[in-house]
Amino acid sequence: MTRIKEAVLTEWIGQILTGSGLDQEQAQMISEHLVLANLRGVDSHGISKIDVYCKRLEKGIVNKKLNFHITKETPVSALIDGENSMGISLATKGIKLAVQKAKEVGVGIVGISHSNHAGMLAAYTDYAAQHDCISIAVTNAPSVMAPWGGRTPFFGTNPISYSIPTGGEMNIVFDMATTTVAKGKIVLAEKENKSIPVGWAISKDGRETTDPKEALEGLLLPVGGPKGYGLSFLVETLSSLFTGAAYGPYIGSLFDDFEHEQNVGQFFFVMRADLFQELDVFKARVDQMAQEIKGIERMQGVDRIYLPGEIEFERTRELRQNGIPVSAQMLETLQAISDQLGIKTEQFSPVG
Ligand SMILES: NC(=O)c1ccc[n+]([C@@H]2O[C@H](COP(=O)([O-])OP(=O)(O)OC[C@H]3O[C@@H](n4cnc5c(N)ncnc54)[C@H](O)[C@@H]3O)[C@@H](O)[C@H]2O)c1
Repeated sequence: MTRIKEAVLTEWIGQILTGSGLDQEQAQMISEHLVLANLRGVDSHGISKIDVYCKRLEKGIVNKKLNFHITKETPVSALIDGENSMGISLATKGIKLAVQKAKEVGVGIVGISHSNHAGMLAAYTDYAAQHDCISIAVTNAPSVMAPWGGRTPFFGTNPISYSIPTGGEMNIVFDMATTTVAKGKIVLAEKENKSIPVGWAISKDGRETTDPKEALEGLLLPVGGPKGYGLSFLVETLSSLFTGAAYGPYIGSLFDDFEHEQNVGQFFFVMRADLFQELDVFKARVDQMAQEIKGIERMQGVDRIYLPGEIEFERTRELRQNGIPVSAQMLETLQAISDQLGIKTEQFSPVG
């Protein structure tokens, strides 16, 4: 692993995105998002997505322009038609609008249809927390998981994230796929020739597997069995049935379908954290509860209790200081895309 500083990697990814036809604003939003995912240790949704994004831009399956319009609006809500623009750009605009509405009227609800892959949801909920809001974000995704008891893919990895502002430096930012893991983690394991743990997936003939290739041809398992399936049902409903986006099997694949738009949906629910009690009273109560949780007696073999999102927060702090680990394989991919786009790479040197 080579380490590259955040600013250097963001600049490199940004240049690749402008080289692929995006304007400066979008290149900045997307490069910052992808690098933030790596900083948080969510490598599956970080710069590893750059090759598929570039391929989709090159093939013209995604709108290079950030065209979108609001189709229905009330003081508390807005429905955005994303016009097949880049998902991260749309979702970044969407959460900003939801926060703005929450600031004005207390609650902001934003749905997006005709969107694309929107990356790591924590980026959006963290933004809301930084603006003293409690938030929930969901997105649907192409089908890779059967409804509990079935063997045919129907729902996607359908992640859900929430954030809660605290009085400290770290906000609570929880973010999980409703499958045992995000599909990107299996794609990454395959790219890096690693096996995957039992419990993540089954092969297409219904066997448990540790081979990422078999898993990608087969099915992911819902987290917590029927409970993950139940949560995924909610995520799907809010992201698609509610917004008008495609659902489950009708969503275009990010990795395998280079002919049709994805028509993914996103949904954000944001409320001001001072809706019921004064902000400092609420935050002090969150801090109190967090402190009590961290102080409880631990299970055998556990040396520390983490708050939701704390592992990612600490990782971000460490990587901001020491640089972001980038695998040799990932470096090769970045170099190959840069060569293809005529981008000079000498300036993007590793740390040390
Ligand atoms: N855009 C998409 O289509 C899409 C689809 C699926 C997933 N994703 C993204 O993939 C990412 C990874 O999802 P995942 O399910 O693999 O995440 P994960 O399993 O790594 O983490 C899930 C959550 O558990 C918390 N956690 C982990 N260990 C903990 C501990 N010991 N104590 C307390 N909390 C702990 C983490 O802070 C995190 O909030 C997410 O960012 C998600 O938004 C995106």
